[in-house]
Amino acid sequence: MTNDPYALATDAAAALRKAVGVGSFDVALVMGSGWVPAADAIGETIAEIPVTDLPGFAPPAVEGHAGRIRAVRTGSGTNALIFLGRTHLYEGRGVEPVVHGVRTAIRAGAGTVVLTNAAGGLRPETQRVGEAVLISDHINLTGASPITGATFVDLTDVYTPRLRDLVREVEPSMTEGVYVAFRGPTYETPAEVRMCRILGGDMVGMSTVLEAIAAREGGADVLGLSLVTNPGAGLVGEPLNHEEVLAVGRATASRMGDLLAQVVCKL
Ligand code: HPA
Repeated sequence: MTNDPYALATDAAAALRKAVGVGSFDVALVMGSGWVPAADAIGETIAEIPVTDLPGFAPPAVEGHAGRIRAVRTGSGTNALIFLGRTHLYEGRGVEPVVHGVRTAIRAGAGTVVLTNAAGGLRPETQRVGEAVLISDHINLTGASPITGATFVDLTDVYTPRLRDLVREVEPSMTEGVYVAFRGPTYETPAEVRMCRILGGDMVGMSTVLEAIAAREGGADVLGLSLVTNPGAGLVGEPLNHEEVLAVGRATASRMGDLLAQVVCKL
């Protein structure tokens, strides 16, 4: 096995095509915490495999992150690759496993990457539990990047404006906001939440930004969606836990599934 993460993704893409019997994918979706139950609505399952069947993938570490890859045929006849769970930076395996799925998907043909997550809402005045917010931009406070060396990737439009417009054709009332990413796994302190608001953040979480950067490096378009699981993040004085985040996902699964199915058909 190679040490080069890009070559490893090429190997994984070849193994994936063989394992699921699909030659090329049009779109890849990464289902974050709370989004896994929504995956069933996206299309007809062609095949599903554990990520660990492919080179370079780490076994799942977090409950609710199933660690499986599903190939589906969408309602418009395109092929979608769905990651049922992701690797996070806080798992301590470094940056490469975090972005390996996105790199593999791009090498398997995906020109569009849909990144979903559960997030704390930084605008409790307007955000509601179970609301989906379009990610318009991000602030990467993880201290990490998937890119090393002098490769200067333009991030002016990390989250493709055309894809955000397309989502608003399906759901005109959906708002958009800036996603602030920390490494985790601790939830933010109240002072950190106040800082995020001052910095212009609207949602806060522990994922997505590194994958978005890797997708842009790979030339794919990116759509980002946050499910607001706890408006007020650390400001409301209520302790947070992962189980609550998953429960919001279960409660909103059919709504988010419908949304993704419609969006994927329009790509
Ligand atoms: N902070 C960080 N990550 C999260 C949160 C939060 O408040 N909610 C869901 N994921």
